[in-house]
Amino acid sequence: MFLGMDVGTGGTRAVLVDEKGQLVASASSEHQPFRTPHPGWAEQDPEDWWRAAQEAIREVFAVSRGSRVDAVGLTGQMHGAVMLDKDGNVLRPSLIWCDVRTGPQCEWLNNQFGGGEVGRKRLIELTANPALPNFTLTKLLWVKEHEPEIFAKIAHVLCPKDYVRYRLTGTYAMDVQEASGTLLLDVAHRTWSKEVAKVAGIPESWLPQLFESPEICAKIGDEGAQRTGLKAGTPVAAGAGDQGAGAVGMGILRPGSVSATIGTSGVVFAATAAPTMDPLGRLHTFCHAVPGRWHVMGVTQAAGLSLRWLKETLAPDQSYDELTAAAAKIPAGSDGLLWTPYLFGERTPHLDPTATAAFVGITSTTTRAHFTRAVLEGVAYSLKDTFTLFAELGIPVKGVRLGGGGARGPLWREIQANVYDYPCERLTAEEGGAFGAALMAGVGAQHWPDLEAACAAGITVAETIQPKQDLVQRYAEGYAGYRRVYPALKGIRG
Ligand code: XUL
Repeated sequence: MFLGMDVGTGGTRAVLVDEKGQLVASASSEHQPFRTPHPGWAEQDPEDWWRAAQEAIREVFAVSRGSRVDAVGLTGQMHGAVMLDKDGNVLRPSLIWCDVRTGPQCEWLNNQFGGGEVGRKRLIELTANPALPNFTLTKLLWVKEHEPEIFAKIAHVLCPKDYVRYRLTGTYAMDVQEASGTLLLDVAHRTWSKEVAKVAGIPESWLPQLFESPEICAKIGDEGAQRTGLKAGTPVAAGAGDQGAGAVGMGILRPGSVSATIGTSGVVFAATAAPTMDPLGRLHTFCHAVPGRWHVMGVTQAAGLSLRWLKETLAPDQSYDELTAAAAKIPAGSDGLLWTPYLFGERTPHLDPTATAAFVGITSTTTRAHFTRAVLEGVAYSLKDTFTLFAELGIPVKGVRLGGGGARGPLWREIQANVYDYPCERLTAEEGGAFGAALMAGVGAQHWPDLEAACAAGITVAETIQPKQDLVQRYAEGYAGYRRVYPALKGIRG
């Protein structure tokens, strides 16, 4: 058996995958919700991820009656900065991926590289990406400016799942896919960028050793074993950030294969043979979890989060099923109502941490069901923006696989197929990043020769949703309207 762990935003999930690549058991434990003491801030406690990881592993053993684990693979929410002192103690809560307080630090960093377009171009040359508030480095720079006494004590920097690995094994390690989202990696050469670290004032000694995702990088230690029931000495593969591992779990390995995943965030992800950069930096260009390959992705900050916000704000008494059942009765296009999902600013395509969300087109006949349907459609339009950029940059799309919560219900699947105007595949068991992490563990343990073989064993398509031309037409009109909302409302506040 291979154990895959996903240290997500909402919780940590553990899955067991057998030698045929089939999921045999899963268990999860919720996290404390992230704290937002100011708009745009998002913090979580690394210790809470470790607590949830222990619970999830013990629980998965309980449901599978103590199966033997041959290797462990890790994945998790990306970009979060975990800052540790020289003894490995957590120095402060982690600023996580959706924390966008670091606009000023992005500007500072850009200025160090020449400022404006020059700085942006140079950073893209060095790291394949521009300075964005989501990326780990900008979070470290915020701590440097606002909490110098904490910054002075930092000795190690990790991302969320790498902290859980540290607690399991005592080893500081990171894979190159995850490291791509720190803004400290030379993505083209798959090594830390000495130049960026130096200019930003980050000692290289803080950065963990790098590995390719399926490589074994550590072993379960005595304390990790005691706390979880895993055996000391069990090998641990490097793994990947949730988007890299999720793509592996959906078989998105080769150029031309593309996924659209709606979790808390929303991501359209394409595998590429070489680092393909958007000169304007609107897409992320990262190392893939597949050694020797890269990927591009566009990110919607608040995808599933939009629906959760809607439910919590307008319909706390309703279940998601009740909400979407009512939304299914509203015509495609929500009678003209549009939602732009910028609850936490936006990455693709606007790169604007100050963007705010909006409903546009409310009338006296708008109902709660309209709001729900408009949210589902608005999130799909937002992901469509990435397909529009792929077309602009000549990134091939041979097929689309749907993942995450957005793939689970028929309504959101159909909306996506008709908005994207591509046949969309649903997999028999879309198990997200934890499944991909388990496949990486299986490759690390040499059970499969490579990720292609692991995916061929474990992944099957359940259904293809074909776009319907009348709906494609309606959504093309809706998308044209959607594209006009952001520029029209930019900067307006009460
Ligand atoms: C990817 C990203 C999110 C987080 C949380 O760039 O920020 O996918 O990893 O899921």
